[in-house]
Amino acid sequence: MKTALITGVSTKIGLGYAIAEELGKQGFHVIIAGRKLDQVEMIANGLSNLGISASPVRIDLLDRKSIADAAKQVQQKYSVLDVLINNAALMLDGSATTLAKDLDEFNAEFETNVTGTWSVTQQFYPMIAASGHGRIVNISSGAGSYGDPDFGILNFPGPALRLLDAYPLTPYAITKLALNGLTIKMGKEFKADNVLVNAICPGFTATRSGSAEFGARPVSESVKGIIWAATLPDDGPTGQFFRDGNPLPW
Ligand SMILES: NC(=O)c1ccc[n+]([C@@H]2O[C@H](COP(=O)([O-])OP(=O)(O)OC[C@H]3O[C@@H](n4cnc5c(N)ncnc54)[C@H](OP(=O)(O)O)[C@@H]3O)[C@@H](O)[C@H]2O)c1
Repeated sequence: MKTALITGVSTKIGLGYAIAEELGKQGFHVIIAGRKLDQVEMIANGLSNLGISASPVRIDLLDRKSIADAAKQVQQKYSVLDVLINNAALMLDGSATTLAKDLDEFNAEFETNVTGTWSVTQQFYPMIAASGHGRIVNISSGAGSYGDPDFGILNFPGPALRLLDAYPLTPYAITKLALNGLTIKMGKEFKADNVLVNAICPGFTATRSGSAEFGARPVSESVKGIIWAATLPDDGPTGQFFRDGNPLPW
């Protein structure tokens, strides 16, 4: 049975849960990670009740030891990891201007979205390479691109997002811009092991109450492009950026 690890699975309305459920339905054993073990255990039990093979693990991206401990635990039990979905992320005050932003807060966002994600990838990489067909999906955002017509740094808020005028999302965008750069570098480096790694924007998705009113789409739509990247054939793309299977401008 193929294995997949998904970070940031703490609620049933988040993208992490939908990814776990879909990969589970496709026959993967899903290892779901979150920072509160009791919460992840409950979600794993719920998935098992749906007939999905699932197990919980504690990972807090702000706690490097928790990442190393989780990797050891997974290594002992499964030894191979076919898919890693770096889904967990932190977005704090999205309305702050560059001048007003609390930089300690920004550091926590950067540590979570970039350094923490990087650390998870380092720790689990030997198991992913052992798969022979490893796939890594870095969940990014059009907000971290330059050229995305609606979310990109140069265009935000584009025509479809006028209602978000008061939320420049600057710190979050900077973290995802860095994650995109990391994806390019990883793509080049991991080719030798047949590990494909891509940055995927799920699109504006209704994972928070009220966001549908601002144009967010259902999770069921956004998850498709993530599953596509997680199950690419060996000759699939790597080190690239997509939404719904279509290339996005950096
Ligand atoms: N929804 C959108 O419109 C949208 C658009 C573009 C990109 N994305 C990306 O899609 C991914 C999933 O987002 P979502 O909308 O499903 O948001 P979400 O529900 O807020 O999910 C984020 C997850 O990350 C976890 N997390 C935060 N800090 C963590 C830490 N230190 N250690 C471990 N886990 C941590 C959260 O756990 P806690 O509950 O414990 O905080 C939560 O489970 C993110 O990478 C996000 O940037 C979302």
